[in-house]
Amino acid sequence: MSETAHFDALFTPFELAGRPLRNRIAHASMSLLLTPDGRVSDRMIQYHASRAAGGAAMTVTEPLGMMRHQAGIPRVQVWRRDDADGLKRFAAAVENQDCRLLGQIQDAGRGRHFPGRNPEAIGASALPDDLSWTVPRALTAAEIRMLTEQIAESASHLKDCGFSGVEISAGHGHLFHQFLSPWSNRRDDEYGGDWRGRTRFIAEVVAALRAACGSNFIIGLKLPGDDGIAGGVGPMEAGIIGDLLTRPRNVDYVSFAGGAHARTLEMHTPDRYMPFIKELRHHLNGVPLMALGRITDPAEADGILARGEAALIGLGRPLVADPAWPRKAARGRSWDIRYCLSCNTCWGAIVTMHVPIACVNNPRVGRPDEVDFAPPRTDAPKQVVVVGAGIAGMEAAWVAAARGHAVTVLGGSDGIGGKAALRANLPGGETVSSIYDYQTVAARRAGVRFVLGRRAAAADIIGLQPDAVILATGSTMIPPDWLPPGVLAEGWVPDLRAAMVEVMRHDTRQCGAAVLFDADHTEATYAAAQALRARFDRVVIVTPRDTIATDVPLVTRQGILRRMAEQRIEIVTSSEPRWGDRCADGMLELVNIYNGDVQVIESLALLTYATPRVPDDALAKPLRTAGIAVTLAGDARAPQEMLFATASGHAAGEGV
Ligand SMILES: Cc1cc2nc3c(=O)[nH]c(=O)nc-3n(C[C@H](O)[C@H](O)[C@H](O)COP(=O)(O)O)c2cc1C
Repeated sequence: MSETAHFDALFTPFELAGRPLRNRIAHASMSLLLTPDGRVSDRMIQYHASRAAGGAAMTVTEPLGMMRHQAGIPRVQVWRRDDADGLKRFAAAVENQDCRLLGQIQDAGRGRHFPGRNPEAIGASALPDDLSWTVPRALTAAEIRMLTEQIAESASHLKDCGFSGVEISAGHGHLFHQFLSPWSNRRDDEYGGDWRGRTRFIAEVVAALRAACGSNFIIGLKLPGDDGIAGGVGPMEAGIIGDLLTRPRNVDYVSFAGGAHARTLEMHTPDRYMPFIKELRHHLNGVPLMALGRITDPAEADGILARGEAALIGLGRPLVADPAWPRKAARGRSWDIRYCLSCNTCWGAIVTMHVPIACVNNPRVGRPDEVDFAPPRTDAPKQVVVVGAGIAGMEAAWVAAARGHAVTVLGGSDGIGGKAALRANLPGGETVSSIYDYQTVAARRAGVRFVLGRRAAAADIIGLQPDAVILATGSTMIPPDWLPPGVLAEGWVPDLRAAMVEVMRHDTRQCGAAVLFDADHTEATYAAAQALRARFDRVVIVTPRDTIATDVPLVTRQGILRRMAEQRIEIVTSSEPRWGDRCADGMLELVNIYNGDVQVIESLALLTYATPRVPDDALAKPLRTAGIAVTLAGDARAPQEMLFATASGHAAGEGV
């Protein structure tokens, strides 16, 4: 029996506002940062056209400039009506592939994810945003009606340009959500006061959209499902809102989002720890529900539909990771999907780094050939040796082999995955293996030969007579200055990786305190702290910075801070350990780097460090001296996060 037979529900056609959907899969709105000058860009078209080519039945754009006051934001400025050609090209590129294109309507209101306050912010009431403490200017009733008109006019322009519909983004703590929530809407006019008042803005927008665009135009509503704020919108309030807004039956589908612009930002993009929010379908007066939020696997999606829990499946990050997800699922190739890790690196790219969307598991995101990517064959096959079986080496290996090179991977340990495999065994790491699982399947399919379990010396590699070598040999943490070289040599104070290999061997609890010196601030360090906490009486993180996890996107950092607090993992900031005689008696001094104050940790059982790393690239020189072309990838090139490992490995495989 083909695998497709299991996904009957997922591939059953559907219809919204009289427009056909070839299956139940919709790409949820994702901000891409691909339109820096406010006009439709080829890269934005390409991104969505690829999701259409990959088999999605519908795709929702990032928020568009639908209102005049949004002129200064780097989004496509629809209200100006000065780029109809661009919008038409966009619509044609998607719609001609039997995929419905919807434009998103959203305003952040008082919400802001980054430092500083937004002086232009508008809102329901002049109350501060939880994160940036921006206080918005409260809109007058006349202004609300004006915005409603502008939105309807812009939507009608989208329709004229070939869009199938729009989605109102009314969750995630943005402007519409701020009107819905009693926590942010304290108005006493017709747009506040009670649920009918608080839903009025959205109800009027929907009515205006319907009047302007007709019945044959899809109107979707993304509502708050649970914003996690006391006095805000929890699942019960979401049910009331859903009921009120679907009663007129002029909306075509509803989805629910989590979180707000608050300490619950982490619920926006459920990470590896969040369950899927789903129980609201009974409050929608028969309007189809789109299930959304960390649905990563076709079997899971199909089950949701088959059980009648939803009519549609929204996929945000999973279609960033693999635009061909629907096509592969339909053709019985689920095993060949590059799965989303829910690591939120994509969010970190656009919000923290202000660069276009990027993905750990899709090094080609946004490129024209990313759908079901098959590397172009070389006409000059070479003998290629890849040293290192971590995710950088494995990415290089499968790409090079798929191009037709004869590839041998030399791995120092018995397994595949390197540091990523270590991370996969720590709390919350379950999804990480999907990177090297995919790479392993792709490498074996392309005929890669593996020699594992032995650290290769230069002579071994030269003996294989390669035409080219890709060195993906990783990196080593730099011992901290406070650690005397003699102590380091004795091995009492291992780096965090070595410590975790040893700690994870035992499940038994140990007396005393584990102290983790943190000059790393990436996500894996805190997963290690949790694993330590499961084994030691006490875990103390010591960092010279003024907080922890500063190199992690805020959505993920909130979860880390929450877990550290819940698990009573202690955090000592602006401090460093001081090695001294008292350590022999199990006492470790922590010294404040600004004022020299000392606090003492007693019953020290483990001291370990996570620090910046240096590339392990010693093999490069002898190989080059022997006349072999060497390319460095991953940490061996520049110690970074997983995003760089897969990206640089991919580039190395292409470039060899
Ligand atoms: C990088 C990134 C950008 C996003 N941009 C938007 C957006 O512009 N509008 C929106 O409504 N939701 C946005 N979302 C939220 C997604 O649409 C979706 O609700 C969320 O990611 C959960 O679905 P998923 O687990 O399938 O990714 C974004 C999420 C991410 C990770």
